Amino acid sequence: MESQGSGRDGWSSRSAFILAAIGSAVGLGNLWRFPAEAGANGGGAFVVFYILCVVLIGLPVLLSETLIGRHGQSSAPESARRLARESGASRHWSILASLGVFSAFMIVSFYCVVGGWVLHYIWVFISDLFQTGLTGGAFQGRDPAEIEAIWPSLAGNGALTVGLDFAFLAITLFFVARGVSSGIEIMAVWLMPAFFILLIAITIYGSFGGAFSETVDYLFTFEPEKLTGPVMLAAVGQAFFSLSLGVSGMITYGGYVGRNVNLAGTSVIIASADTFVALVAGLCIFPIVFAAGLGANAGPALMFQTLPHAFQSMPLGSVIGILFFVMVGVAALTSSVALLEVPTSWLMEKTGLRRVPAACTIAFGAMILGALSALSTNQLADFYPLNFIPLFEGQGVFDVLDGLTSKIFMPVAAILTTIFVGWVADRRLIDSETGLSGGLQVIWRFLVCWLCPLALLAILAVGIFPDSIG
Ligand code: PFF
Repeated sequence: MESQGSGRDGWSSRSAFILAAIGSAVGLGNLWRFPAEAGANGGGAFVVFYILCVVLIGLPVLLSETLIGRHGQSSAPESARRLARESGASRHWSILASLGVFSAFMIVSFYCVVGGWVLHYIWVFISDLFQTGLTGGAFQGRDPAEIEAIWPSLAGNGALTVGLDFAFLAITLFFVARGVSSGIEIMAVWLMPAFFILLIAITIYGSFGGAFSETVDYLFTFEPEKLTGPVMLAAVGQAFFSLSLGVSGMITYGGYVGRNVNLAGTSVIIASADTFVALVAGLCIFPIVFAAGLGANAGPALMFQTLPHAFQSMPLGSVIGILFFVMVGVAALTSSVALLEVPTSWLMEKTGLRRVPAACTIAFGAMILGALSALSTNQLADFYPLNFIPLFEGQGVFDVLDGLTSKIFMPVAAILTTIFVGWVADRRLIDSETGLSGGLQVIWRFLVCWLCPLALLAILAVGIFPDSIG
């Protein structure tokens, strides 16, 4: 079905758009990065600031992005250009979306590396189930150090990580190549409900382990002294990454939405679902970790080392391990599909290529960059491409791509987006897209014109120059 009768592929209904957008938002960011960042940045301070960022900054930017897309009904840069042209502004405003397309390409390349690790863990738990059977915890009789070594030894095996990265990218490519209504939408409509069932079931099961109240204290006790500049930048970067903002993802998905959809209400549903999943992911993972007597601040290792170790002391550990990593894989897939769609739709429009060759071309580029990311944890461990920039000193390709996008490109694209929507674009066009009126419209305009750009600028500065504040 087409969104506009314009011959352009699009969502078949409002709920299809909502599910696909939630699928884009809910991903490794919620299940892997959010608990890891919260754990590494002091728990409650990070979580409370994160929620503030979602409501006051994330939501207005989300609405801004979807409205640019829906108005333009094109790829992200063309949608921004169209709105600029109709507002009598410079067409160069499309840079806000071009920057996003570039970021999405970089993110999909390393995102699929992590997706590949997830595939590996599904396999590890399946083979453990065959070896140790249904009863008891996972990895029975094995030394905890051996379990924690699964991740470093995977990352140290260049051929395997690259192979798994390509496998995950190939699955992503399959859905993108099938198109919006017959690929991306069908995937989201089937996989997102399955994801929610798994998440709730595992959380309820894990809560019986007994460390639930410890988790609630950990995640929701606000200690203001822990709210430093880098923690604030980490929280806003995480909010953006999690809501798929600043990379033109929501502009692109908004470009397939019909005129009859209420964008403000839909944005609230998407942001609420994404935040709900991030918080529930914390409530799912930390009780399992605490019940096993392990620490919460392992950072990225939380999911790939601490948690598998924790499954050792959990009844039905290998089954829960399989279900958990299948759930993570599903969430990652619906996000990587969105990430690949952003540059694909741009390339199709730019060159007139059909969908399949365009998606394959982008995927080929992501394969090369992804292989560099995959190898940067071992073979290329001493290759620091941006060592001359203090913020990236000593970081390999994977961390550089992650830091460059989440700490710089995404906030910059978001600042440009809010200035464009708040100050530059024709106000009547914007108001007719948001459908807001009265008090809500006043609040939205205040957030998008003032609070978002100023707060983002301040956070960007503090994050890049952490020594600039006391
Ligand atoms: N929001 C996704 C996550 O939390 O994992 C990541 C992402 C997907 C970012 C799609 C951007 C995007 F366009």
